[in-house]
Amino acid sequence: MEAQRITEVVGKIHGRPSSIVTELRRVSEATETVGRLKKRGGVVVKIGGSLNGKTGTLLEDLHDLHEFGIPITVIHGGGKKIDERLSELKIPVEFRGGLRVTTPESIKVVQEVLKQLGEDIVTKLRSNGIVAVHVLGRKAFVAEQKPELGLVGTFSGEDTFRIMEINRKGCGILRCMALSGRVVVVTPSARDMKGKVLNVNADEIAEVIAKVTLTPPPVAVFVTETKGVFVGGKVVDEISRSEALGLVSRGEINGGMAPKIKAAAGLAGIPGVKTGIIGCEDHELLKAVFRPGSSGTWIS
Ligand SMILES: Nc1ncnc2c1ncn2[C@@H]1O[C@H](COP(=O)(O)OP(=O)(O)OP(=O)(O)O)[C@@H](O)[C@H]1O
Ligand SMILES: [Mg+2]
Repeated sequence: MEAQRITEVVGKIHGRPSSIVTELRRVSEATETVGRLKKRGGVVVKIGGSLNGKTGTLLEDLHDLHEFGIPITVIHGGGKKIDERLSELKIPVEFRGGLRVTTPESIKVVQEVLKQLGEDIVTKLRSNGIVAVHVLGRKAFVAEQKPELGLVGTFSGEDTFRIMEINRKGCGILRCMALSGRVVVVTPSARDMKGKVLNVNADEIAEVIAKVTLTPPPVAVFVTETKGVFVGGKVVDEISRSEALGLVSRGEINGGMAPKIKAAAGLAGIPGVKTGIIGCEDHELLKAVFRPGSSGTWIS
């Protein structure tokens, strides 16, 4: 059964083989990858709010990975839906450095929209035969407020070490659920040390989830509408951490791609972790897991 499923997945990733020898080699490599991912931390998948529900082959790919027993943690964003809702309510939208300035008025809307999006993803996964559990970030994560952005939390402030230690413990439950075969869907948010709810960029949460697991996941991907990082007008296959961060500081990479690059750069430094920014069409998630680097932009 599993051999047949792996052969089907190999077909989705590579297309028709040129020979039976090539086919056997590809199936054997994919079988080895499944075994390694099951033993280690599995995969972390950030689903960009920029996709706004247009998820291409993503759900089918998640279903395939889930069937193989690969632990999966999903974290979603919701930027587009939040902007739509805020503008309906005539609440101003403001970003600084790619992060949403969040007021006591807007945080209610942000939380409401994100919670609904998380529930929608869980419902879709369940209807695709995937056992999924919804977790609100504020139940699992502690962050430090960035007062210049209002009610926004970060994991990279003055208190980083202490905060990461607390999150390491808090994340144990997420890890247990993922390892026991449930897809964990995390809705982004956190609390500060005193319990105040903060809005946190979903890419930063994805970075923390991947970082605090005992065995870092071999693959952490950020699925987004641009299918990768544009440099000089085209999506680049690979970029080093220092080069990418340099482009952020020069403003050539900006908007929501800036925090995404910072998060990916934070993961790319961990031995054994491969991290990329990909799209959601043509089985890009399967390709990312079985052939990292074959589509999108990978951070080295
Ligand atoms: N060099 C770049 N390459 C690609 N995208 C870029 C670049 N510079 C800026 N961007 C912008 O970054 C956006 C991606 O970040 P954005 O936060 O909007 O998406 P997301 O993270 O998928 O969604 P969400 O934050 O809602 O989860 C792109 O749509 C693009 O407008
Ligand atoms: Mg974003």
